[in-house]
Amino acid sequence: MSSKNAVKIKFFNGEDIPLELHKVRVVQKLNLVSIERRLEALNEGGFNTFRLNTRDVFLDMLTDSGTNAMSDMQVSAMMHADDAYAGSQSFFRLQKAVEDVLRKKYLLPVHQGRAAENILSCAYIKKKGDLIPMNYHFTTALAHITQYGGRIVELLHDEAYNIASSCPFKGNMHVEKLEEVIRETGAENIPFIRLEASTNLIGGQPFSIQNMREVRNVADRYGLRIVLDASLLGENAYLIIQREPEFKDASMSEVISIITGLADIVYFSARKLSSSRGGGICTNDLTIYRELEALVPLFEGFLTYGGISVREIEAMAVGLYETLDESMICQSPTFISYLVNSLTDNGVPMVTPPGVLGAHVDAMQVCAHIPQNQYPAGSLAAAFFLISGIRGMERGSISNQRDENGNETYADMELLRLAVPRRVFTLSQIKYVIDRMSWLYQNRSLIGGLKFVYEPPVLRFFMGGLDPVSDWPQRLIAKFKEDFGDSL
Ligand code: F0G
Repeated sequence: MSSKNAVKIKFFNGEDIPLELHKVRVVQKLNLVSIERRLEALNEGGFNTFRLNTRDVFLDMLTDSGTNAMSDMQVSAMMHADDAYAGSQSFFRLQKAVEDVLRKKYLLPVHQGRAAENILSCAYIKKKGDLIPMNYHFTTALAHITQYGGRIVELLHDEAYNIASSCPFKGNMHVEKLEEVIRETGAENIPFIRLEASTNLIGGQPFSIQNMREVRNVADRYGLRIVLDASLLGENAYLIIQREPEFKDASMSEVISIITGLADIVYFSARKLSSSRGGGICTNDLTIYRELEALVPLFEGFLTYGGISVREIEAMAVGLYETLDESMICQSPTFISYLVNSLTDNGVPMVTPPGVLGAHVDAMQVCAHIPQNQYPAGSLAAAFFLISGIRGMERGSISNQRDENGNETYADMELLRLAVPRRVFTLSQIKYVIDRMSWLYQNRSLIGGLKFVYEPPVLRFFMGGLDPVSDWPQRLIAKFKEDFGDSL
């Protein structure tokens, strides 16, 4: 399935633009509503882009989770699904795909990534204060670990926090620090080490195989298990081929199997990997399988469906195989790279090098005039939706959870994430994103802060409600009208 040469396409006129390696056969109409309606929508949704109704959204760049375009092969596979409570053929096809692609023979299906995090935290966090070292947290992983009484420590290199960087592997774990933490804490208080592929919250940044090998050595020295969050594994593998010289001629299949071979447990959200729902936990170790097995029927469903419909299981299986096709997996990273480079050329501060999943705008710089307790990234997300109809996601302090005493913990980075789901947007739509974000950057002094008016206690970013601290949205609308006239 690997088709490496399809990725490098040069234009005779010297233009450096990504080329779609697919054709569009089913389309969905989009609405671009007026700026006045967009302000009403923000008011109705508590200035929180999660709470917008897609009726009001033009380009939905909230996430790539469950929003990647499916292939004709995936859709057709859904038609021959085998409906059965137990022993479904669809499950066995998925199990075979997991074995072929991820090289793990035991599979526990779950309805999405966070369900895997729930099961792993439930099974392995045995006492209050157990510590999970990781390259960086993901919101749902952290929430489950703390829910079961565990703690985390993040072990990235300082360079990972540098917004503008040329470091190819910002997701690498600091292995010396890892060893220090293990010695101080005691291996018996560490249920596992968690490594996240394409570290989401720092801008979709990969780790290298060299780094993972070093983490494996440390883990072996102390008898610790490595749990890999493989939700964005395909993209991490693609960037390894691009950036790690040892693997420049390797296939996706080779790179993926080396990575998963270094982990004891691999879990994933299939919402990103391939399909609209689903996830899994897989391993080659029967002891581990037995430790987790009983929790699937308890939380998810029987062991051959795990809370996923058989149609989605079929789509997942095909999606896993498609992950091995470099010409397919490259589509989103190359569009992201184009978006990041174009915005950087226009002076907009972006996380670099370009990562995966989306382009990340540095709201700390764009909204340097907004204090962190007024949520610069949330403010930028709301302002950008207002002037463009484009919905991004706040990945800053609103996405952080309060500490055990109820105090705010400010995020290391205040980012606006503009997700680029696979094969969904065209280049002219990406150009619209660049145009509107560049305009907003020029007019950034008009963006104001936000304050919470409704704050849920867990994962507050999903449903929280905020208000603007002043009439800044009206001032932004006035400037938009001045510059764009009657354009939407
Ligand atoms: N791990 C990573 C790295 C993720 O990015 C996500 C989800 C999950 C686990 C949880 O998976 O949503 O299927 O329960 N990320 C989505 C996002 C929600 O928009 O970044 P899930």
